[in-house]
Order: sequence, then C-alpha cells, then structure tokens
Amino acid sequence: MEYNIEEIKHKLKKYNQEHLLNFYDNMEESKQNKLLEQIENIDFELIKSLYNKTKDGIKNEDAEIEPIDFMDKYKLNEDYKYYEQIGEKAIRAGKLAVVTMAGGQGTRLGHNGPKGTYDIGLDSHKSLFELLFDYIKEQNEKYNVQIPWFIMTSKENNEATVKFFKENKYFGYEKNIFFFIQGQLPMIDTEGKILIGEDYLIKEAADGHGGVYESLVKSGMVEKMKQLGVEWVFIGGVDNCLVKMVDPVLMGIAIDKGVTAAGKSVVKANPHEKVGAFCKKNGKPSVVEYSEITDEMAEATDENGELLYGESHILCNLFNISAIERMGSEPLPYHSAFKKATYIDKDGNKVVPTSPNAFKFEAFLFDAFGEVDDMAILRVKREEEFAPVKNATGVDSPETARELYNNFHKKEK
Ligand code: UTP
Repeated sequence: MEYNIEEIKHKLKKYNQEHLLNFYDNMEESKQNKLLEQIENIDFELIKSLYNKTKDGIKNEDAEIEPIDFMDKYKLNEDYKYYEQIGEKAIRAGKLAVVTMAGGQGTRLGHNGPKGTYDIGLDSHKSLFELLFDYIKEQNEKYNVQIPWFIMTSKENNEATVKFFKENKYFGYEKNIFFFIQGQLPMIDTEGKILIGEDYLIKEAADGHGGVYESLVKSGMVEKMKQLGVEWVFIGGVDNCLVKMVDPVLMGIAIDKGVTAAGKSVVKANPHEKVGAFCKKNGKPSVVEYSEITDEMAEATDENGELLYGESHILCNLFNISAIERMGSEPLPYHSAFKKATYIDKDGNKVVPTSPNAFKFEAFLFDAFGEVDDMAILRVKREEEFAPVKNATGVDSPETARELYNNFHKKEK
C-alpha cells in the first residue's frame, strides 16, 4: 500500500502527535510501512476525546438503576428438567459454540506468557487452557458432539498462544479450534501523546474484553459459526478454571424465554464485595460496578431477604448469534486504566517506569448488554462454577483456584 507521507505529517501535526515519526527516517522500509499503516488506522479524534475524558475524572453516568430478575438454578424444582431438556436438544444438535477470551495481559498475575498457559499448580500441572479443554472434551462425550472452541487472543499474545497450542498438538482438537485476534488501541501518556514502543512502532494495547463482539464479527468468526450451524455462543474468560461453558439449563431458559442473552451469576459474598452486579440501567440489562451504588442500595434486600444487587457478574454469558452481530456493530464506550508501560522517549531512550505512566483504553463486555432487550440471569453455585485466577497471591489466586478446583472434582467423583 502506498502512503502519502505529507498527508500523514499534516494529520499528526493537527493532533499534536508529530513525534510518532521521530525515528521513521532510520527505519527499514517494511517497518516504515508498518508504522504508516498503524498511523492510518488510528482514530485520532477518538484518542483525543478519550484523553480529555481522563482529565475529567471518573463520572458516573446518570442512569436509572434497578434490580433485575434472576432465577436460582437450584430452586427451579421441576422446571430444571424442563429447561435442561430444551437446552440439551440444542447442544446435541450442534448449536452451541464456546468462546474463550484470552487476550488479556494478566498483569496482576504477573505470569510471563499468555494467561491460558499458566499452571495453577495442580498435581497434573495442566495449564488453564488444558483445564478448559478437559471440560469441553467431557461435554463432547456427554452430548456426542464436537463443540467448536473459539479463542480470542491479542496482537501481543497471539503468537505465543498459537505456539503453545502447536506444542501441545492442539490437545488433539485442532480442527475444532479457531483463533481470532481482538482489536487494540494506542496507549497515551499523561500529556495525551501516543507512546512509541520498544520496536519503534506505536505502543498499542488490547481493547478490553468488550472488544470480543466486534472482533468476532470482523474476523469472520461469526460467519464461520453460522456455517457450522451454531446459533448460541457461550463467552467466558480464560482465567476461571471452573467455568461451565456448556450449560443446558442456561440455554434452555434462553430458548424457552425467547431472549437473546443469558448470564450466570453467583451471589455476592457480602453486600459490599467489590464486584459488578447484574442490574437494569434505564430499563436495559446491565452490570453496575460496586462503586456506582450507594451503601443503602448495596444492602437493600427483597421480601425473601435476597440482595437486590447481589448477583455478581462472573463473565459467563450466553448469546444468540444475532445478539453478537448487533453488539458487534455498535461501538462501546472505552474506560481508561492508568498502567505502567515501557516506551521509547523522544531521544530514543527506553524508559521502564516504576509506577503507572500511561493510559490504556478498554471496552467492557457488559456495556453491550443494553443492546439486547432482555437477558435471563441464572444464579449458580460459586463453588461449582467460579474459581478465578487474578492475583499472584491472596484472593482469587492460583492457590484459591487450585483449592476450589480440587474440591469440586473430589465431590464429583
Ligand atoms: P481481566 O479484566 O481480569 O484482565 O480479564 P486480565 O488481563 O486477565 O488481568 P489483569 O487485569 O491485567 O491483571 C478477564 C478476562 O477477559 C480477558 C482476559 O484474558 C480474561 O479471560 N480479556 C481481558 C481479554 O480477552 N482481552 C482484554 O483486552 C481484556
């Protein structure tokens, strides 16, 4: 592709980002082209407005927040079987695909490599990816299907992820595994300047788990799913080693109720647990962050003593393919996070910061929930479905996940 360097310079000047070409003249031609391509793909207006927002501080949107109805999986009584049969029929007919979001940086865990390759220290020393695959395999046998497994990576970790799968011979599941790469956005410093990375190209970071819908559509994965006869897609994270991606009850409820999205929740450990909770915002399904509700709201209960905002969102959601297409066509708002980012300064020196120095912008998966009119929420048991690996030690660490995983599998035997 031919680039008009003068036009590019003009654009960079307009947005005060001329430093991006500081090292251009000394680059190899292929790298020069790569840099120009990156610049051409940047939405500078968006970056400018995102930077301006970082200066405004955190502002809660003015939304009307209300509780959302939920069902408890273990209080469904005879309906349990009814929903299960509906869901099971669809699963057996090959209508379900699963998506694992594995594009995150896993900064809190601090593992050197994609989070999915992490060994949480089980006796088997299986990686998170293999634990997820074990589960898929078990479900395949149960329902006599080969559930397609879509794995979202980021530009940063795609190569290492694919290499890991290759080395592990794709666990023998190669023809049913599909990788796709999520979108990314440039990182900026506190002056709004786009950072240059160690490779002298633009420093970009994955655009958050909310990028999943758009990348599923843009990468052609939705088309692929349709060709495979898929109608329902479970989307979950890579770091919950108890994630139950194949749930006939959840699917049966969605089908029976005629909704295009369904989410699983676990009840908050206490009213002030720092997690997002399912709710309605302006009448639409959503997730409210703990910081967005008052103490009074956090503690409010219904006539059965259940917390009104007690259904934690655990990144375990099921969508009809039509909902994904809709969600993937609308841009989501970006949230900023202040992070440590190594970069090349204007004199060509590498700077390794010891404290946060740059903004990264991320879309959140649940910001798209408002695109669907209704969403079924199913409360499941924390000890059966939620063992996240977030931190190196303490809460939600390999140690806690390992214990939860072992306890669950002991009980199953
Ligand atoms: P988290 O928000 O917990 O982020 O992601 P993380 O990257 O794992 O960890 P930290 O915050 O850097 O410590 C929840 C899930 O969403 C995926 C992650 O891989 C994880 O499965 N995710 C997150 C993406 O796939 N892409 C992103 O851009 C962000």
